Amino acid sequence: MKYCLMFWMSMMSMFLMAQVTVCPGEIWPDDRGQHINAHGGGILCHNGRYYWFGEHKSDDTSAALVGITCYSSDNLSDWHYEGVALPVTDVPGDDLERGCTMERPKVIYNARTGKFVMWLHLELKGKGYSAARYAVAVADCPAGPYRYLRSGRVNAGIKPLDMEGDMAALDTLDAWKDAEWWTPQWRKAVKDGLFMRRDFADGQMARDQTVFVDVDGRAYHIYSSEENLTLQIAELTADYTAHSGRFIRVAAGGQNEAPAIFRYDGTYWLITSGCTGWAPNKARLFSAPSIWGPWQQHPNPCRGKDADITFGGQGTFVLPVGDTFVFMADIWRPKHPSDARYVWLPITFEDGMPVIHWHDEWNLDTKKARNE
Ligand code: DGJ
Repeated sequence: MKYCLMFWMSMMSMFLMAQVTVCPGEIWPDDRGQHINAHGGGILCHNGRYYWFGEHKSDDTSAALVGITCYSSDNLSDWHYEGVALPVTDVPGDDLERGCTMERPKVIYNARTGKFVMWLHLELKGKGYSAARYAVAVADCPAGPYRYLRSGRVNAGIKPLDMEGDMAALDTLDAWKDAEWWTPQWRKAVKDGLFMRRDFADGQMARDQTVFVDVDGRAYHIYSSEENLTLQIAELTADYTAHSGRFIRVAAGGQNEAPAIFRYDGTYWLITSGCTGWAPNKARLFSAPSIWGPWQQHPNPCRGKDADITFGGQGTFVLPVGDTFVFMADIWRPKHPSDARYVWLPITFEDGMPVIHWHDEWNLDTKKARNE
């Protein structure tokens, strides 16, 4: 009897240890007692350990003064500060020169090469948001250090897979290049590929972004392109460090930012935001039977208080954990960027559709990691 009780007590404690309490929007201290500084981030699970990568933000500027930080955890609650995985440099004119903009980093593991590959959105120092580049870096260990490879625009000289018509038809769009924005004719030209055509030779713009590894090991870069008016999904090469040349346009003219993707039961789900700078807006939801579409838009997945402003946040990543998907978002604080908060909420399914309810606090069962 005594042994039986001990057995059940140890089983209970194992069960309880797998539950962590998540408090969305609160200060989240790391193992140094400092609020985690990894904004616009994403999480990689590797060999049972979680690695959280994000933007280091300073107290008074969103410019990158430090670089991309990394934290690790066994339980998604207690985070050990691993340091700066990809630092800024002090080389004048360098892509990563201190004062540039490094946003929304995501890391994926390539099982073929054994390398960890980081993708992020890069803006050059002093150039606002005009560069609109991806940047890519690789490492031998999940926490880094990451070796910077390059930055650039996407798929120069290549037409999207889903673009009908020949280049001559696309060339007629040039007439709308200097037209007044938001007129019906201009909107139609945008949908038809006005900015895709404009950027064809030098490559497509890439701002808010994420990367996603599918069940077959192929990886994709998903990013706001075409002046933030249209999303694009571009396949990566087998080593995940470049674009393969295959890409599609999604929700042309729909003004989507902050893409976060997950796959459940054979369906691809994409949660995005609108484009309102640092201010929160209503989340959008899309689904598709294949990464190549067709992508269909659904109503806002958020429910409850402040559901029409994504609970004050903007999405950044969806993390599969056990039988849960965790929607991760940032509550930006542009006047005090380092005080931006993290909103993690469970995604549940109602009538076959993903929904996100607000919880002041909730329990996450971390027992079975799905994305190893
Ligand atoms: C919204 C984006 O989602 C953020 O990552 C950042 O680029 C801000 N805009 C800048 O205003």
